Amino acid sequence: MLLHVAQVLTPQELAGMRETLAGASWGDGRATSGAQSAHAKNNEQLAQGRPELPGLQQTVLTALNRHATFFSAALPRRILPPMFNRYAGAANAFGNHIDNAIRYLPGRQGERVRTDISCTLFLAEPDEYDGGELVIEDTYGAQRVKLPAGDMVIYPGTSVHRVEPVTRGARLASFFWVESMVRSDEQRSLLFAMDMHLMRLRETVGETEAAVIGLTGTYHNLLRLWADV
Ligand code: NI
Repeated sequence: MLLHVAQVLTPQELAGMRETLAGASWGDGRATSGAQSAHAKNNEQLAQGRPELPGLQQTVLTALNRHATFFSAALPRRILPPMFNRYAGAANAFGNHIDNAIRYLPGRQGERVRTDISCTLFLAEPDEYDGGELVIEDTYGAQRVKLPAGDMVIYPGTSVHRVEPVTRGARLASFFWVESMVRSDEQRSLLFAMDMHLMRLRETVGETEAAVIGLTGTYHNLLRLWADV
């Protein structure tokens, strides 16, 4: 499931993050990539250990925590610490690749996280740069994604994807992975659809309607069946 998650950041959070990132120093993006993707990767990243990184990561995690749509779609079990990248100038693209299936939690020796869901949170407005589309290959063909600042796309970690060359301006984003309580994308999609329909049903017929109570129970029973916590 490829999903546009709108307004993850408030305008204040976005402005604060952009101010911090404007004064940040950037390093080679290849520092954190796997062997295949290192060949394709040509961008810059905020290096691990930078003093501004924990505050930026906390802002993103706080925003995710309060976002009901993100929670319903991702059903997060663990979220890897958000990272930040920049595509501009000569370091401006990332060719086709698949993200590593397993990543290590920084600072937590040997602890592994499965990357079920890839997330890109856009931090620059679309008119600030040319190019820079995130292109995700799925069964319907290539989806080209370029979202307003503060919005996020989530997509299955199994997808081949790339970032098109940025030919003007700078594309800033946060990117990270989620290990979901529900490993299967198909099951997550069904649960998300059911949850969204239930939400609309509650608005139209109310919380106390017997069928709404019953279907809410069915949702939770499916989640109980499929979730690992
Ligand atoms: Ni990637």
